[in-house]
Amino acid sequence: MTPTGHRPRNASPLTTAVTVARLLRSPRIRLLLSLSGKLVTPVYRAAFLTAAASSGVLRRLAEGPADLRTLALELGVEGDTHRLRRWLDAGVKLGQLSSRSGRYALRSRLAKQLARVENDAAAGALEEVVRFHHPVLLDAPRMVREGRSFSLGDQDGTVIARSSLVVQPFIEEAVSRLLDRHRPVRLLEIGCGSGVYVRHAATLNPRLTALAVDLQPEVAEQAARNMDRWGIGDRVTTRQGDLRDLAVDERYDLVTLHNNIYYFPESDRVEVLARARETLAPGGRLLLTTSCQGGGPSLEVLNLWFEFADFGGPLPVEDELVAQLRKAGFSDVEAHRIVPGEQFRAFVGTNS
Ligand SMILES: C[S@@+](CC[C@H](N)C(=O)[O-])C[C@H]1O[C@@H](n2cnc3c(N)ncnc32)[C@H](O)[C@@H]1O
Repeated sequence: MTPTGHRPRNASPLTTAVTVARLLRSPRIRLLLSLSGKLVTPVYRAAFLTAAASSGVLRRLAEGPADLRTLALELGVEGDTHRLRRWLDAGVKLGQLSSRSGRYALRSRLAKQLARVENDAAAGALEEVVRFHHPVLLDAPRMVREGRSFSLGDQDGTVIARSSLVVQPFIEEAVSRLLDRHRPVRLLEIGCGSGVYVRHAATLNPRLTALAVDLQPEVAEQAARNMDRWGIGDRVTTRQGDLRDLAVDERYDLVTLHNNIYYFPESDRVEVLARARETLAPGGRLLLTTSCQGGGPSLEVLNLWFEFADFGGPLPVEDELVAQLRKAGFSDVEAHRIVPGEQFRAFVGTNS
């Protein structure tokens, strides 16, 4: 109190500047502040950006600022705009959006980049981390205790098909180097995902025909739509199927498996690769691209996810996969590092 009996401005009846300073120096409060800045806020930001990208909010806001009603219509939200506003306001608080005169806009550099169509693979990769990598790190001890595993249905195949495209330029380069561009080529692609590598091969060789197969029905349906959209539906047959019981009535010049050898248990891999070889004409070649063990944190967690899945197995070890390819009957087996600085390899073998 001042001598006049008035409380000085900023003074609180419950704390003094001295107690606030003391509390802020306490190890417990310092730990909380450190956790908040270094871990909690980035986790919140990652979750918000994932949802904003996958719901279409980022794309809509990339066209220009929009009010709540417009965003609600865009998202097909009827009635409960109150909670949508709260979520958008959380995005403002997290520094990802701005809000002025009732209209939301993109604010952070990351939000602006993820909103761009050409960065869809990065948005998919973020979604894979948040939706699939995060749960395995979080739930692993409990899953071990309860004997639980992930199944294929725990993955969203369409998200994985998008996120796999982070390595697209490198895989396309490998396809470009291996593909014969002058003669008709019959291509079989196993686990085609979105189908972009079949498109790439078809663009390089106008006389190429292909069978594109994916195990997951919704992925195969999307790939078939893509082939039509890209104008190659007449040269490419797309269907749902499993390499292990695929009935093929012709022999192929090239069989490709990109990013999916770890969808097969380690103990089945020789058999699976032998099955792939059987679909090849004499002299036909296999191109298999995959992440391998020993990479950075993202690959390690991907590896962990498959360790916790009731299908598939760990990422391959380069030398072991080379040995498995030889055992499956391939000759001239080679492994090439195709992504600089990362454990990502292209394996090539011939059915001689
Ligand atoms: C990580 S995604 C990769 C998609 C695509 N190859 C790419 O690189 O963009 C793996 C794909 O393999 C498919 N797959 C897994 N096991 C398969 C099998 N036995 N036969 C055919 N496709 C399979 C999955 O459904 C999934 O779409």
